[in-house]
Amino acid sequence: MAEFFISTPIYYVNDVPHLGHAYSTINADAFARWHRGLGDKVYFLTGTDEYGQKVAESAQRAAMPVDVWTNMYAERFESTWKLLLISYDDFIRTTQDRHRIAVRKFLQALYDNGYIYLGKYNGSYCVSCEAYYSNNDAPDGICPVHKKRLVQMEEENYFFRLSFFQDALLKWYGDVPDAVIPDFRRNEAFAFIKSGLEDVSISRTSLSWGISLPWDEGHVCYVWFDALVNYLTGIGYGNEDASFEAFWANSHHVLGKDIIRFHCVWWPAMCMAAGLEPPSKLLVHGWLLVRGEKMAKSGGNGVDPSDLVATYGADTVRYFLLREYVLGSDGDFSLEAIEARYDTDLANNIGNLVSRVTNVVEKSLGGVTPKWSGQAIKPDVLAQFVSRATSAWTNFNSSKALEEVQGLVKATNAMLEDRAPWKSSDSYELQQILGDALTVLQIVAILVSPALVEASVKILDAIGVDAKSALNDFSLYLEPQSYVGGSVISKAAPLFPRLKAIRA
Ligand code: ME8
Ligand code: MG
Repeated sequence: MAEFFISTPIYYVNDVPHLGHAYSTINADAFARWHRGLGDKVYFLTGTDEYGQKVAESAQRAAMPVDVWTNMYAERFESTWKLLLISYDDFIRTTQDRHRIAVRKFLQALYDNGYIYLGKYNGSYCVSCEAYYSNNDAPDGICPVHKKRLVQMEEENYFFRLSFFQDALLKWYGDVPDAVIPDFRRNEAFAFIKSGLEDVSISRTSLSWGISLPWDEGHVCYVWFDALVNYLTGIGYGNEDASFEAFWANSHHVLGKDIIRFHCVWWPAMCMAAGLEPPSKLLVHGWLLVRGEKMAKSGGNGVDPSDLVATYGADTVRYFLLREYVLGSDGDFSLEAIEARYDTDLANNIGNLVSRVTNVVEKSLGGVTPKWSGQAIKPDVLAQFVSRATSAWTNFNSSKALEEVQGLVKATNAMLEDRAPWKSSDSYELQQILGDALTVLQIVAILVSPALVEASVKILDAIGVDAKSALNDFSLYLEPQSYVGGSVISKAAPLFPRLKAIRA
């Protein structure tokens, strides 16, 4: 058993959650569930990013007190995650006391270590990104992400000596080549570091909505500099908690490619400056696009995850996002794509296997489940599917893991069509065929459970396996011999009914 810490970005509370946020959160949830099933001690952290100019301005525009505003949106995120069956252990809000205390401790450490100095900032800023832009990044004075005119800023600010960490960062990237995955995202961050790092402004005097600096209360911390520290707050930084060390040593951050610089350049340097190890792994995914454009709050093309859950159910939305998109790359979103996955993968492949197997067991064996025989399904073929799927999950490749599961189900459906147990009356043969098909279903239920939270329980119930035990001990139940049969079952209700029936 090992500690496993996983986080999502903390989302700005300037608007409601959309499917892009859900994509990050569902990925993190699936990895959390996979590691819990392996017996790891998991801490899954998500939450909301509530300070900064962007949030302050959005509350102002709505003529609402900022705390009323942030409460309202933080709740929207929490309720959306409940609908999507997100199993977070902690929901952090940066306006909580614990975070202010941790941030001030962290900043003080950087200050005491000599990595912070007072200087003058003069340059361009995008409020929507909450990011500074150099002339190289935005030569025309327009934000490359939001296409809005950058704001000129001139202020006395504290600066973090990011430039000092250039060599240490390059060395870290060399020493830990898989700290950032996938590779092409790592290379992007590496190239950026190599091109030269400038110190970054970390405080503001023109704004009061933030955490004040411990050594100069007239400044509030720049929102990104406090936001990143949430990853430490969540696991008890500064509480002298022994579990902090253990979780930090196995830390995994899921994030979108829009915030690579903050996570893959600033954050490891900030950790080093505070005397901590950099995070263990940064899992960078691409963007969900709508007709080629980034799905975004500001873009007006955000898909509300709760609408999709209402139509298709949480499992389908989760499965779709985890199967359809390859971590790292951008991908187009459409309802047609969800429905196609539903029909082929869920209804026709998995759903069909469950109903035909439970049906024949009821009809031909009086409902009594036989055990694994290894005669109808070759043990080595099964073992190969299982090994490819488990290593894909362990390597944060949900799409590949689920593809392997589909392959296994398909091979089992093909075996059934070939052996046609529904036509057989040879009870010895029936026991072998159905015992092996039931065993596959047990294994499939476990391998899809990070995605199909509800259906995995239903599959295990349908084949007479105690779902709670199985989902608590993946390794044991992925062994075919663990399927011992001897339960009495009946034909399962359709797991994934036809879509027309859902919509009617
Ligand atoms: O950046 N496709 O918050 P944010 C995929 N508060 N993922 C998407 C997406 C899309 N179209 N749109 C958003 C912030 N995301 C900061 C983070 S962390 C210390 C602070 C996801 O509300 C993706 O994970 O703008 C992206 O990185 C994140 O939402 C940005 O959310
Ligand atoms: Mg954003």
